[in-house]
Amino acid sequence: MKNIEFIDVPSIEKAKSRKIKSKYYDYNFNPTLKTLDALKNKKYFIRTYGCQANIRDEEIISGILNRLGMIKTNNEEECHLAILNTCAVRENAEDKVYGQIGDFKNIKSKNKDLIFMICGCMIEQKHIIDLILEKFPYVDIMFGTHNIVDLVTLLNKYFEEKKRYVFVSSREGDVFENLPSSRNETYKAFVNISYGCNNFCTYCIVPYTRGRERSRLSKEIIAECKELVEKGYKEITLLGQNVDSYGKDLNNGDTFAKLLDEVASLNIPRLRFLTSYPSDFKDDVIDVMAKHDNIMKFIHLPVQSGSDEILRLMNRRYNSKEYLDLINRIRSKIPNIEFSTDIIVGFPNETYDQFKETIDLVQKVHYTSAFTFIYSPREGTPAARLNDNVTYEEKVKRFKELVAALEKDFDYFAKKMIGNTYEVLVEEVSKKNKELLRGYTENNKIVHFKGDKNLIGQIVKVKINDSHLYSLFGELVNE
Ligand code: 5AD
Ligand code: SF4
Repeated sequence: MKNIEFIDVPSIEKAKSRKIKSKYYDYNFNPTLKTLDALKNKKYFIRTYGCQANIRDEEIISGILNRLGMIKTNNEEECHLAILNTCAVRENAEDKVYGQIGDFKNIKSKNKDLIFMICGCMIEQKHIIDLILEKFPYVDIMFGTHNIVDLVTLLNKYFEEKKRYVFVSSREGDVFENLPSSRNETYKAFVNISYGCNNFCTYCIVPYTRGRERSRLSKEIIAECKELVEKGYKEITLLGQNVDSYGKDLNNGDTFAKLLDEVASLNIPRLRFLTSYPSDFKDDVIDVMAKHDNIMKFIHLPVQSGSDEILRLMNRRYNSKEYLDLINRIRSKIPNIEFSTDIIVGFPNETYDQFKETIDLVQKVHYTSAFTFIYSPREGTPAARLNDNVTYEEKVKRFKELVAALEKDFDYFAKKMIGNTYEVLVEEVSKKNKELLRGYTENNKIVHFKGDKNLIGQIVKVKINDSHLYSLFGELVNE
């Protein structure tokens, strides 16, 4: 059995600290000759679970490995280095990862030189590191969300000493620029505007796994967006756990509205942003959205619950009336706007009446899409300490009731699109039917239609002929 070296371990206490001022660094690419020799032209496999922040992290990890001369493969059986980039937001996300780690036992027994690494939000939790070290002795390296910049250092150490390593630092205040990046897509790009989250919703693990909120400098964000425009990207999504609080930590007058205005002026055909936090969503953002045609008229605005008492227990800083007022203010200035949301069902001790308030709210807002979740206790969060008198069966029942209420609206909006023509950014050949192309409308609906492959990457007009709940079918309109 290899020795274990703990270079740094996670600390929930340090992660809670919110007082540090951000520091900005340039990424330092520092491979030894041994590392370069060992990895040049070798294949790596990376699988990512979870949200867009993780997908963007994958792109940065890939960028680093490509710079080492490695080549990406989608086949874990033929790789020299494998990385699982994990998500901790709900238990079922973690279960999937454990299943996949189990599968690697076999792969590693056939390929003894394989370097097997796990990173991402799960590794930010001490109890998970302990479990992996004990149960899965073939995991070589674990590193945290703040340690992607240390990946090459870890590989250097590995090729020197061949130990097992754990490297999870609580570098809440650090922002690295000039990171290598190999984007997964050629037409759509995610651009981080801030990292971490200061909201500490009582159910959520993210502020502990990704640290306190820190904004990138706007000049860096704009330079990255400009480069994407020059490369021919058609769509940019600005990313942050709470984009609306962008700039608060910078103390230089920068706000999300100002940043959005500047990026929208860069000649990018489509601009989106994720995720908005209701009480931080200010009217100046509405004005900027109304001013620019290239900002998609679609907002993901998580409500989480329609009950004021549950919202209070969740430590969300708004009530249902304030949320609905915001929706109405946005609609009055941008009449064609559409909304999606996140909702958690079965927060500890949620009563049926409180759940019904969520249904009421959903019926007032009329979302065109939504992500719904059954509450999942996360160790270390305040909500996980609550006793819960609601059974899992009851939660599943409520979940189904909520989905049925939401789907009525989805169906109504999807049918309303039939007969109309929409602009679609063509992304790829449809997975199910190779004769069809698929792309997204401005309001984020998937459309399938017949067309030539050379349309991929272009924005085309498609008339909708048929609608299903979660996808549409149409035909190209030639002008
Ligand atoms: N249980 C269930 N859903 C959760 N989310 C975050 N934490 C939990 C949890 N413990 C949901 C929230 C959030 C989305 C990304 O995941 O709705 O907005
Ligand atoms: Fe989690 Fe709340 Fe932050 Fe979203 S805003 S990442 S739900 S703590």
